[in-house]
Amino acid sequence: MQGRRTGKALYMRGTDPAHHIHVTEKGDPRFVGVAYYAESEDDLERLAKAPGASGIESIDEPGGGKRVRLTEPNGYQIEVVHGIAPLPPIKIKPRQKLNTGENPLQRAGELMRLPRGPSHVKRIGHAVLMTPKFTETVHWFRDTLGFICSDDVYAGEKDNVIGSFNRCDRGDHYVDHHVFFCLAHEKTGLNHLSFEVEDIDDVAMGHDHLAQFGYEHMWGIGRHVLGSQVYDYWADPWGRVHEHWADSDRLNLANGSNLLPAEEALVSQWGEAPPAKFINHASP
Ligand SMILES: [Fe+2]
Repeated sequence: MQGRRTGKALYMRGTDPAHHIHVTEKGDPRFVGVAYYAESEDDLERLAKAPGASGIESIDEPGGGKRVRLTEPNGYQIEVVHGIAPLPPIKIKPRQKLNTGENPLQRAGELMRLPRGPSHVKRIGHAVLMTPKFTETVHWFRDTLGFICSDDVYAGEKDNVIGSFNRCDRGDHYVDHHVFFCLAHEKTGLNHLSFEVEDIDDVAMGHDHLAQFGYEHMWGIGRHVLGSQVYDYWADPWGRVHEHWADSDRLNLANGSNLLPAEEALVSQWGEAPPAKFINHASP
């Protein structure tokens, strides 16, 4: 990732045009909050009338734009932003095609050679919160931000919902399977932030890159059931967990919502089961 630095914070971008996708502020390590893009300034105006909303503010940070600040039930800051100046995308070398069983000559006569180095992060994908106030939190995100349920997950009885995967409602437009996942837990905090990378090879190349520096690997590589992403999770030196993923399911409004048992939903299509240190991780 590249970025910009001010006296107070570091703003990091991906290869997509978003001005920044991760902000590190000076101070003691903690999770401050998450920001979501709104389609239009009209959305900000509507949101500014929500209970506890800040009103529309000009963002005094690189990229500018406008925002509405809200506080979700666990006290974290949620910003909804619009009009942050985009940047030209960063071009990476086009990927070679894959030879498959069905198409064995997609790369006829060409050698596959991958660039060594970090994953190429395109954009931010989703955030995952752990909270004892599970139902209240899920309702807040749905009612305030308009998220819709992709999959709710239950343990034991069907009314014991313990996890909720939510996506944006953009009508016919296809979006990521989840932009917000909430998990019922005794701890409160951020489980992880996720970043989309170029493709599955890029997930694996990034894994090797991080492994050589001795960072703590948390889970992966594998393919999820819910969302279907190929994932890899790492902790940064301050204990926050970041996911690299590629190849998410993309749904629209017509895909509707599901209720699934945990033993079907929270396993992997391939890859190891999640370790306890990942499942119970929350950065306050
Ligand atoms: Fe994730």
